[in-house]
Amino acid sequence: MGLLLKVFVPLLGLVLAFYFYSAPENFSEEMLRGKRVIVTGASSGIGEQMAYHLARMEAHLLLTARTEAKLQKVVERCLELGAASARYVSGSMEDTTFPEVVVKEAENTWGGLDMLILNHIGHSYFNYFNGDVEHIRKLLETNFLSYVAMTVSALPMLKESEGSIVVVSSLAGKAPGPFAAPYSATKFALDGFFSSLRQEFIIDNTNVSITLCILGYIDTESAVRSVSHAIRVTPAPKEECALEIIKSGVLRQRELHYPPWTMGSVLLLRAIAPDFLDSLIRSSYNVENIRRAQPTGQ
Ligand SMILES: NC(=O)c1ccc[n+]([C@@H]2O[C@H](COP(=O)([O-])OP(=O)(O)OC[C@H]3O[C@@H](n4cnc5c(N)ncnc54)[C@H](OP(=O)(O)O)[C@@H]3O)[C@@H](O)[C@H]2O)c1
Repeated sequence: MGLLLKVFVPLLGLVLAFYFYSAPENFSEEMLRGKRVIVTGASSGIGEQMAYHLARMEAHLLLTARTEAKLQKVVERCLELGAASARYVSGSMEDTTFPEVVVKEAENTWGGLDMLILNHIGHSYFNYFNGDVEHIRKLLETNFLSYVAMTVSALPMLKESEGSIVVVSSLAGKAPGPFAAPYSATKFALDGFFSSLRQEFIIDNTNVSITLCILGYIDTESAVRSVSHAIRVTPAPKEECALEIIKSGVLRQRELHYPPWTMGSVLLLRAIAPDFLDSLIRSSYNVENIRRAQPTGQ
């Protein structure tokens, strides 16, 4: 035990130090000036905050979500903040034709694209898995297949600009907790697809970066509403999270882990002590506050 502590703890420290300080840190806001960026799920939460940061950095913005009234307000604010241009296209990613509509709008407006930020999610429940397979099918359409469809449509423009794809995922897509089985499945699908695609881009010398963003609990209205009664963790600020996502995309990083220390430690534990990590995750939930819903079809 003594030897373990003497050897393992300093080794873990070294690994963590290397892990956190090896990323290049040369971001500057000018990198976004005049860039043409699509942000999905931009009517609220982290997507809305990304739009405001990008506007301050003088990017051209195309925003999308379902709620037109909210998008109008976000676009107005982006123009006030200094966006080179800002427009929106509203619609649902449950509609299989909509991803292409959004990308076509960028093509018709700008004739090219520098960054595709895929961030939207459809609504899911936070509770024991209820057996509803149709819900998972729909959620996969919104949270996963629409990401793939937008990537396919945008790829010719991104290849031309040597641009970036930013995929917003979650700790639930690397080390899942309970009560989010459908959501977690869609986030794991993103990792599988985009991590494989990244490999192909390297083999093909396709100079389009793919950044997968692994986020912990963030203080967006919808997340706090869904999980605050059950999770004993303080959420991280959405404004800072949004900025870190943009930075990681511009710097063409493979993955963003935010908040960094929490996510880094969790992912390291996942690799070396997964059962211990699972029990830690379970102990951070107030399970007694989850009221089991009636299973579907039973
Ligand atoms: N907040 C967290 O704690 C947290 C943690 C880990 C990962 N994340 C990830 O961060 C991203 C943003 O999360 P958030 O908390 O900012 O979420 P949010 O505030 O609920 O925003 C979701 C966005 O997606 C849009 N949307 C919902 N259904 C849609 C549909 N069918 N088609 C098109 N757009 C749709 C919403 O706008 P409309 O309703 O107007 O369509 C909204 O703009 C997500 O990928 C999420 O998984 C968040």
